[in-house]
Amino acid sequence: MNRIRKICVFGSGTMGNGIAHVAAQHNVLTTLIDIDIKQLDTAKKNILNNLDRQLKKDIISSNEKENTINRINFSTDIRECISADMIIEAIPEKFEMKAKLFKDLSAFCSNKTILASNTSSISITKLANYVNEKENLIGMHFMNPVPVMKLVEVINTKFTSKQTTQKVVELSKSMNKFPVECKDSPGFVSNRILMPMINEAIQCFQNEVAKVDAIDQIMKLGMSHPMGPLQLADFIGLDVCLDIMNVLYEGFNDKKYKPCSLLIEMVNDGLLGKKTGQGFYKY
Ligand SMILES: NC(=O)c1ccc[n+]([C@@H]2O[C@H](COP(=O)([O-])OP(=O)(O)OC[C@H]3O[C@@H](n4cnc5c(N)ncnc54)[C@H](O)[C@@H]3O)[C@@H](O)[C@H]2O)c1
Repeated sequence: MNRIRKICVFGSGTMGNGIAHVAAQHNVLTTLIDIDIKQLDTAKKNILNNLDRQLKKDIISSNEKENTINRINFSTDIRECISADMIIEAIPEKFEMKAKLFKDLSAFCSNKTILASNTSSISITKLANYVNEKENLIGMHFMNPVPVMKLVEVINTKFTSKQTTQKVVELSKSMNKFPVECKDSPGFVSNRILMPMINEAIQCFQNEVAKVDAIDQIMKLGMSHPMGPLQLADFIGLDVCLDIMNVLYEGFNDKKYKPCSLLIEMVNDGLLGKKTGQGFYKY
């Protein structure tokens, strides 16, 4: 079976630039595509900063830094994906946006191109309605920050072929990650467990059970979590957290997944966490 040599990552935000960085660092020729040219510039700066951090910590040499950045092509042109062995979609967590992109990609790409979504919670099975080759579609869920976190949650639908899964597992391993497989279900495993916990932590704060810092300390010191749930929510982005809670709420049609009103309010007020400079903490 041919290994993946060339990938195209759609969306150069928090996740997309991390995925491009790690793929390129492990010898994969990578094109990073965004509709926003300014965001591509920011992505390049972020990747260079993260490479510098790795260089300082002796994780990579200056040669590896140069080779990594040279393996990434930054572009706003969707047609650049035509020759890719695989596409990894990392655009916002909105079903309509992802469905449109997969429909467009399906028209452009060969019938052999693997189509992977980095969605946190959206049904891969529902997205399969928008592609021509359902057997090539899979979930490849990286964790934030991508250069640091080891897990890749690999999500198979009932249509995903064994060959597609095997190629994604091999690519993940070649990127020095640990792929773990699960079935397609709202929130998969990671966010079905994580997001209700974050939602509950926000509810505790809203009910004045404890202050932000106290809630995070309790979970860090008491449960050995490396980061408290409210700080983690800020890092993920409160908009992303709300989108995922909505997918769980609608997907299971169960009120136990109802997003708490403070989360909705903060998103409406533009308090999205680290990326806007203010969430539960100031940045
Ligand atoms: N943020 C996290 O911690 C995290 C973790 C795991 C998975 N995810 C998932 O990864 C995906 C991306 O999340 P993010 O936090 O990186 O989002 P983000 O908002 O930081 O970045 C999304 C980028 O996609 C670009 N974009 C929009 N439409 C596009 C298109 N049609 N083609 C190319 N680019 C397009 C935007 O300009 C933006 O730069 C989401 O599905 C999210 O649920 C996020």
